[in-house]
Amino acid sequence: MKYLLHVFGCQMNEADAEVLAGHLEKLGYAKALSEEEADVILLITCCVREHAESRVYGKIGELYHLKQLKPTLILGVCGCMTQQDDVAEKMRTRYPYLDLIFGTHNLPEFPRLLEQARASGELVFEVLPEAEGVVEDLPRLRNDGLKSWVTIMYGCNNYCTYCIVPYVRGRERSRQPHAIVNEITDLVKRGYREITLLGQNVNSYGKDLDIDVDFASLLEQIDQIEGLERIRYMTSHPRDFTERLVDAIASSESVCEQFHLPVQSGSNNMLKAMNRGYTREHYLSLVRKIREVLPNASISTDFIVGFPGETEQDFEDTLSLVKEVRYDSAYTFSYSARTGTPAAGLEDQLSEGEKSERLGRLIEAVTATTFERNLPLQHQVLEVLVEGPSKKDPSKLTGRTRTNKLVHFVGEKELVGKLVDVKITKVQTWSLIGEQAGLPH
Ligand code: SAH
Ligand code: SF4
Ligand code: F3S
Repeated sequence: MKYLLHVFGCQMNEADAEVLAGHLEKLGYAKALSEEEADVILLITCCVREHAESRVYGKIGELYHLKQLKPTLILGVCGCMTQQDDVAEKMRTRYPYLDLIFGTHNLPEFPRLLEQARASGELVFEVLPEAEGVVEDLPRLRNDGLKSWVTIMYGCNNYCTYCIVPYVRGRERSRQPHAIVNEITDLVKRGYREITLLGQNVNSYGKDLDIDVDFASLLEQIDQIEGLERIRYMTSHPRDFTERLVDAIASSESVCEQFHLPVQSGSNNMLKAMNRGYTREHYLSLVRKIREVLPNASISTDFIVGFPGETEQDFEDTLSLVKEVRYDSAYTFSYSARTGTPAAGLEDQLSEGEKSERLGRLIEAVTATTFERNLPLQHQVLEVLVEGPSKKDPSKLTGRTRTNKLVHFVGEKELVGKLVDVKITKVQTWSLIGEQAGLPH
C-alpha cells in the first residue's frame, strides 16, 4: 500500500506532513512516486490567502478522475482549510467523492480515522475546534539528513486583523523545553546539523507554561547542544521581540545571524488597523539594535500591500521603510480578504488592479535593496553548509550561509553535508557564486 501527501502553505503544514507520513509508515504504507500509484492521497491545505485555497480546490477537482478509475483510493483533505466550518461544509457537499476530512487538531487520531474510512467506504468527517493540549511522541518521518525543523509552539494568540491563522491553528501552546531539547539532541546524534525552530510567534514561547522559561532562555539551552551547528527560528513577531533577545542571539554560537522580522507595513496607520501592536519607530529601533550588535546579520521581512484603507501615502511609507532598513529579502503579498477576520468586513477594500500595481512597485524596491546588501559580500569568505548539487547547474554545489544566502560553487560531491569556507567571486540578486577557500569542517 502506498501514500502521497500534497502539502500546501507554510512549515507548520510541512511539519504536520511529517507526522502523517510517520503514522502511515508505521501502518505499513510506503511513499508513492506518483498519484496513480497511491492508495491514499492526502491534501494538507492552507487558507492564508485566497490563492492558496484556489490551488487546493483545483487539486481536489483534478483528483476526481483518479478516484473514478480507482474507487478504493482514499482521498483525504486536512490542514488549515478544514478548520473553517463553511469551507469544510463546502468540501463535503461539493466533492462527495472525498473519503476523509479532518482538522489540524486531529493528527493524533489519524490512524483511527483512516481505518474508519477504509472499513466504512463512507466519508469520515472529524474536525476538533480546539487542540487538546500538546501531544508529544507522535511518529514522524523527516525529510533529509542535514536540516530539519522542530516545532516549539503551536497556534497564535495575536489576531492580526487580516489573518486567519489564529482561527485555524488554535490558541498558543508551548512544548516543554526538555521535550524540545531532547528532540534536537536526538536529531543531532542522527546527523542533522541545522535546526529551524517553528512557531507562529516564537517570541511568546513559554508564556503559557507554568515554569520560568522564555524564547531567549530556550535558545540558550539549545545552543548548549553539542554538535549542533546552526539554529534558525521562525517567525519572530516585532512586538514581542526584545533587545535582550538580540543580545542572547549575539552571544550564542549556533544561532544564525539572520533575522526574519515581518513588518507588514511601514505606515503607523496600517500597523494600527492591522492590530500589530508596534509602531514603525519601535520596529526601526529593533533594526538599529540588530545592526549595532551584529552588523553582518541579514534582515528579512513580510509585507502586505493593499490592506483596506491603504492610501498612496501609507504605501509610500512602506517603500521608505524598505530603503531605511535595507532588507536582504522580503516576501511580498497582496492583501487577500479572509472570511471571518475583522479586516474582511472593512470598507475601503482596494481593487485588484491597485493592489497589483503597488505590489509591483514594492517588489522593485525590495529587489534593489537585496542586490545592494549582497554587493559588500564580493571577495568575502563565508561559511556555507553544503546541501547538494545546484539545481540550475549540476556541476556546482549549493548551500547557504549563516545569513541564509544561497551560494553556488565548484566542489567535490564529498562536501555535501559539510561546512565549507567559500570565497565569493560574484554577487547576484538571488544568489552568490564562489570558490572553495578551505578544508571542510
Ligand atoms: N506568524 C507569522 C506569519 C504567518 S502568515 C507572522 O506573524 O509573522 C505569513 C505571512 O502571510 C504573514 O506575515 C503575512 O505577511 C501574510 N498574510 C497573512 N494573512 C494574509 C492575508 N489575509 N493577505 C495577504 N497576506 C497575508
Ligand atoms: Fe497571523 Fe498575526 Fe498570528 Fe502571524 S502573528 S499568524 S500574522 S495573527
Ligand atoms: Fe497556511 Fe495554515 Fe500555514 S493557513 S500559512 S498552512 S498555518
